[in-house]
Amino acid sequence: MTTEDDAFILAQAVGKSYQLGSEKLDVLKDVTFSILKAKFVVISGPSGSGKTTLLNIIGGLDKPTSGQIFVEGEDLTVKDEDFLSDFRCNNIGFVFQAYNLVSTLTVAENVAFPMEWTRKPEEEIEKRINELLETVGLQNRANHFPSQLSGGEQQRVAFARALANDPQLILADEPTGNLDEKNAQKIIQVLQLLKEEGKTVIVSTHDLLIKQLADQVLCLEEGKLASENE
Ligand SMILES: Nc1ncnc2c1ncn2[C@@H]1O[C@H](COP(=O)(O)OP(=O)(O)O)[C@@H](O)[C@H]1O
Ligand SMILES: [Mg+2]
Repeated sequence: MTTEDDAFILAQAVGKSYQLGSEKLDVLKDVTFSILKAKFVVISGPSGSGKTTLLNIIGGLDKPTSGQIFVEGEDLTVKDEDFLSDFRCNNIGFVFQAYNLVSTLTVAENVAFPMEWTRKPEEEIEKRINELLETVGLQNRANHFPSQLSGGEQQRVAFARALANDPQLILADEPTGNLDEKNAQKIIQVLQLLKEEGKTVIVSTHDLLIKQLADQVLCLEEGKLASENE
């Protein structure tokens, strides 16, 4: 058991509902868990069980309808959008299911984006772009546009961008879901590296190879936490 004091992330009775006409759709119901720093956590569960919604709430991209979510001691449910944008940019690396690269920017410019937002010096940005592209094995593609890359390569750029500001928390939504085995393997290597570096990583996935890295598994079933294995 973990206490509230040493939790890196704490979800307390998190609920999320959508009102669709006269129908209320409960997407997350009374979800409570805590995650310690440097743990590798997998969120599993069938399609529609609420994995993406939960990741978005942990990352401060979406607010719960009830309950609270604390990340590094900050209650994200009471913060305004200005605080949340800065908090995300400095502390959280988010890898979306659909990559979300900016199509009009090159690979290097996409990776530079979060560092420019936090006003890092130009030389530092240049150095970091090279390091990150080396980590994901795409040094030779720095000046290409996303449309010139395969899905797997775009996903690797998305990882490089997520890691740009060296966040302590990395959230990845089914990062190997649309990839062939070879590209999936490259992503898993990056996840393994993050685990070894002591980052806190939360991944929603069905991938058994990623599950093998997990210290903790949160199983969602129709919006409820079905079981928690540590
Ligand atoms: N903006 C929204 N409005 C209404 N329903 C939504 C919205 N976003 C997600 N949902 C519903 O919430 C449920 C959980 O979705 P999601 O978190 O994407 O699940 P998963 O990632 O596990 O597939 C689904 O039934 C989905 O249709
Ligand atoms: Mg999803």
